[in-house]
Amino acid sequence: MKNNLRIISSNDGSHTIYREDIDEHYHSIHGSIQESIHVFIEAGLKTFIKKNKKKEINILEIGFGTGLNALLTNQETKQLKQIVNYHTLEPLPIECSLIKNLNFKKINSKVFSLIHNLEWNCNHSINNFFTFFKEKITFEDFNSKIKYDIIYYDAFGPNSQKEMWTLDVFEKLYSLLNSSGILVTYCAKGQVRRDLKSVGFEMERLPGPIGKREMLRASKI
Ligand SMILES: C[S@@+](CC[C@H](N)C(=O)[O-])C[C@H]1O[C@@H](n2cnc3c(N)ncnc32)[C@H](O)[C@@H]1O
Repeated sequence: MKNNLRIISSNDGSHTIYREDIDEHYHSIHGSIQESIHVFIEAGLKTFIKKNKKKEINILEIGFGTGLNALLTNQETKQLKQIVNYHTLEPLPIECSLIKNLNFKKINSKVFSLIHNLEWNCNHSINNFFTFFKEKITFEDFNSKIKYDIIYYDAFGPNSQKEMWTLDVFEKLYSLLNSSGILVTYCAKGQVRRDLKSVGFEMERLPGPIGKREMLRASKI
């Protein structure tokens, strides 16, 4: 997964990756860091913590990619003194030669290198607040004995990866959440919202990050 990929700068100066074969970016071109903070950290992690007092929170991310969401989550958990067990799925890891040129290093270069260099498919303790497990697998093949409190749903969009936005996938996502768990995604398509609702989620349309009108939060009640 190298020749197909190239680094570009998004509008907030932070990098993202463009994947040529499917004409998709890994983040919003309006700003990758601002998008990740808005959708996953603010509307996901911080909202969940405000509503639920849990000693430990289990997060599942679909699509590890550049590791930006993991990096920002690690940073936030230290500030909030919240224990998080972070489990992320990725079938197509990005080559290190590309990763090392991303300017996300400025967030925390030590942790950024660590999460990329750690062995796949086993659990690692990054610090007292953050355990990290990256699994080289597709979501379709993934099974779990544990349930999650928050899902960061960060697959490529329905136009290029429609198999990730089906009712079967949404039912599986629902079943992977604890009751009172939430799923957040940058995608705000009407059909996605209606389909998530039809498998049992309570849906909220929230203001989107810069450059996008809306995003979605789905709650398991
Ligand atoms: C929009 S990018 C998001 C990347 C990431 N969260 C980040 O911050 O860089 C989508 C990611 O989903 C991964 N992906 C593609 N198909 C997948 C599948 N079937 N299951 C899980 N992840 C998948 C891609 O390889 C890519 O890394």
